[in-house]
Amino acid sequence: ETLLLINGPNLNMLGIREPEKYGKTTLQAIVERLTQQASQEGYKLLAFQSNSEGDIVSFIHHNGLSARGALVNAGAYTHTSIALRDALLAVNLPFIEIHLSNIYAREAFRHHSFLADKALGVITGFGDYSYDLGLLALIHFLREKSH
Ligand code: DQA
Repeated sequence: ETLLLINGPNLNMLGIREPEKYGKTTLQAIVERLTQQASQEGYKLLAFQSNSEGDIVSFIHHNGLSARGALVNAGAYTHTSIALRDALLAVNLPFIEIHLSNIYAREAFRHHSFLADKALGVITGFGDYSYDLGLLALIHFLREKSH
């Protein structure tokens, strides 16, 4: 049983990038932590990061059909990408939208998401703990569904 952890543009820079907004934890540390947590719950985590919209779309096409669900921090593509939205819908993948920062406490252009209304839910503003909360919520959702 596989879960996807998808990170979009600039998230490879976590730890270096605007630490006052995004914290000091690296993406690698987040991926390692979530991989471990997922495996404790009996899931395999497949993590992917790309700065290219098309590569993320292709990753979703190739891995979305066989996965049970996904955590998606699409970075700035959250606010711009109809293609990402359509890719997630194309493979019918339940997903949770994740943000480290509280997008509603920031610029108005970050308040709109092309993913949120199709997500199971949105977790925004808890720093790298947003990912942990997302994983808990996704696993809870999958358990409820299978009962
Ligand atoms: C982000 C919020 C986005 O608005 C921004 O473009 C990012 C990171 C977050 O995790 O807080 O790249 O998705």
